[in-house]
Amino acid sequence: VGAVIGSLQFGYNTGVINAPEEKLRRFFHNVSLERTGEPFSPGTNTMVWSFAVAIFSVGGMAGSFSVGVLVTKFGRRKSMLLANVLALIGGGFMGLSALCRSYEMIIIGRLIIGVFCGLCTGLTPMYVGEISPTAVRGAFGTLHQLGVVLGILVAQIFGLEFLLGSDNLWPLLLALTILPAILQSIMLPFCPESPRYLLIVLNQEEEARKALVRLRGCEDVSDDIQEMKEEGIKMAREKKVSILELFRSPNYRQPIIIAIVLQLSQQLSGINAVFYYSTSIFATAGVSQPIYATIGAGVVNTVFTVVSLFLVERAGRRTLHLIGLAGMAIFAVVMTIALSLGTTPSLSYLAIVAVFGFVASFEMGPGPIPWFIVAELFSQGPRPAAMAVSGLSNWTANFVVGLGFPKLAELCGPYVFIIFVIFLILFFIFTFLKVPETRGRTFDDIAQGFAAKPSVEPEAVIAGLTEGKDPAPMSPTDKVP
Ligand code: GLC
Repeated sequence: VGAVIGSLQFGYNTGVINAPEEKLRRFFHNVSLERTGEPFSPGTNTMVWSFAVAIFSVGGMAGSFSVGVLVTKFGRRKSMLLANVLALIGGGFMGLSALCRSYEMIIIGRLIIGVFCGLCTGLTPMYVGEISPTAVRGAFGTLHQLGVVLGILVAQIFGLEFLLGSDNLWPLLLALTILPAILQSIMLPFCPESPRYLLIVLNQEEEARKALVRLRGCEDVSDDIQEMKEEGIKMAREKKVSILELFRSPNYRQPIIIAIVLQLSQQLSGINAVFYYSTSIFATAGVSQPIYATIGAGVVNTVFTVVSLFLVERAGRRTLHLIGLAGMAIFAVVMTIALSLGTTPSLSYLAIVAVFGFVASFEMGPGPIPWFIVAELFSQGPRPAAMAVSGLSNWTANFVVGLGFPKLAELCGPYVFIIFVIFLILFFIFTFLKVPETRGRTFDDIAQGFAAKPSVEPEAVIAGLTEGKDPAPMSPTDKVP
């Protein structure tokens, strides 16, 4: 739970900027008036506004890309602690912006918070993946996404006019991110460091054993230690892996491509077109209370993340991802039909159903899975570099969609979601052909599956997986209850 607060922060700051748009724009207008005696022109105002929104993702790119360096130097837990300093500074800037009559402080604050959130999207899944027992690693990994969606929902609710979304209280709404940062800073010292980091990177077996005893709640952790040692021995041969080597080495090329494409499938599915702009989508469809439909989408989002949490160790990652992508494509088509036919009440209900279905399908697979599967596809050596590269891909695509969608919607009108349908179909095909099932397999086992030459161990059966066949049945060594 301590770690997942970071995910909550990412969600909160993703969702928070949506509701108070009008108030912030008015603030920009007033500040300019006070300073120069003239208000911003509408064009300048929109520019400042888009800048404040988009710079968050730029920060996210920088943050997610720095994860590798940070974790290798400071470890997982201390990195999360350090990241919170950024939340305090960023939240402080935004909270004090109204007092200081400075819109620049909002922009700086959003940038810093973006860096912080970029760090969170790498640190949390990595830490959680490393401390989880193999059999429930997917469910634990989904907790990250659960934190994200809860964060979005909280932001949507607090952003209501009669709560913190008012003319006077919006600085508080933006600064609220400070509270969870403080909470996490208090909790983290009580969380154990990742035993995998302790054992494999620092070679401190005793410390790793202690951390494991605390995490597993039992004295006998020799199985876990044994498994980590095996991963460690293999790693000692491969040494530290730089980002360049990820693409050069045949052992890593396949998993890094899979990791990047899965991240792109998450963002280019169009999910944030909904989360950034749902209110205006609903308004276009003739929904009378679009804000509440948006909150409805946030609720559906949360409920289906919980559903996925329970399914991910039963149905497997690959299957859920495929189901999710297919569902999103279907609902995007329904949405297009609803938006293109007009704004009668029945059509506006159809649009709501389509958006809810789109969001629900997203959370079945494309939402949670890309975040944690990267930690699963790589062993300890290349993992930090892989997290950095895939995180950067995710944030870049997020930035492109966030910035490009309004323009595209203007150009394509109600047909704009067809673009996402095409992407969804392509990602479905890729997942079907290339993505192996990782459920119930140890990190080492998964890495073996990608090895250039099949090893002589029995687990090597799964090496065939990456050729695009259906997932092989799990080998007897897999630890599934
Ligand atoms: C995922 C995405 C994020 C999106 C969220 C919606 O975490 O990474 O961009 O806003 O899901 O639930």
